[in-house]
Amino acid sequence: MSKITSSTLLKYKREGRKFTALTAYDASFASAFDSEGVDVLLVGDSLGMVLQGHDDTLPVSTADIAYHTRCVRRGIERALLIADMPFMSYATPEQAMVNATELMQAGANMVKVEGGHWLLETVTKLTERGIPVCAHLGLTPQSVHVFGGFKVQGRDAENAQRIIDEAKAMEAAGAQLLVVECIPAPLAAAITEALTIPVIGIGAGASTDGQILVMHDVLGISSGYIPRFSKNYLKQTGEIRSAVRAYIDEVAQGIFPSDEHTFN
Ligand code: KIV
Ligand code: NA
Repeated sequence: MSKITSSTLLKYKREGRKFTALTAYDASFASAFDSEGVDVLLVGDSLGMVLQGHDDTLPVSTADIAYHTRCVRRGIERALLIADMPFMSYATPEQAMVNATELMQAGANMVKVEGGHWLLETVTKLTERGIPVCAHLGLTPQSVHVFGGFKVQGRDAENAQRIIDEAKAMEAAGAQLLVVECIPAPLAAAITEALTIPVIGIGAGASTDGQILVMHDVLGISSGYIPRFSKNYLKQTGEIRSAVRAYIDEVAQGIFPSDEHTFN
């Protein structure tokens, strides 16, 4: 079984083959997701909410992400493993390099950072030094207090254009993947079309190259509210491995996300 790398995902994009990503935080779930065929696993700073019970992702530390990255790494044979850089761990390029090193040495294949133009120098420096970067635009949850809530981004023409410009700039700076979160489907489609690198969407419609969901949403055990763009696959399958396979199949066939999961 050959390992998924950024080259594999690039090939999938060229072939028009949709791929699937899930968050994972421990070895057992990671192993199940990996063996069922999820291509990308993310140790998301969503763990601050779904594991630690916080209201947002801001309290998460690099040590937290490193710990869960080590756990997930032991469960993976095939998937690409991305680790989130938490709030304020990459405020300067120097901090980013120190903290990204910790996550790579914990077993990540790539790190993910939230933000646009201010981050370009960091993305270039990390990539030049051997640390692949996944960019993250749109609703970037570490900025929830700046946004004034978890709100769809890029609804007006000016903000939509800014996100497109930032996506292109991230690719030019060396980013090898891009996550777009909670943006209108036509905007996500335009970004996916404009970029050579694969684009992974969450709440961004069906046109992106890949989809990502938080595992707790897919398994219907998120406390509080389940976002509209998510889908509880455990409900329709009754079994965790079948739920993961259903998610993979629906993404591959373009069934998920459907209109009810999409912002227009
Ligand atoms: O932290 C996370 O789980 C994420 C995904 C939702 C993209 O960043
Ligand atoms: Na995240």
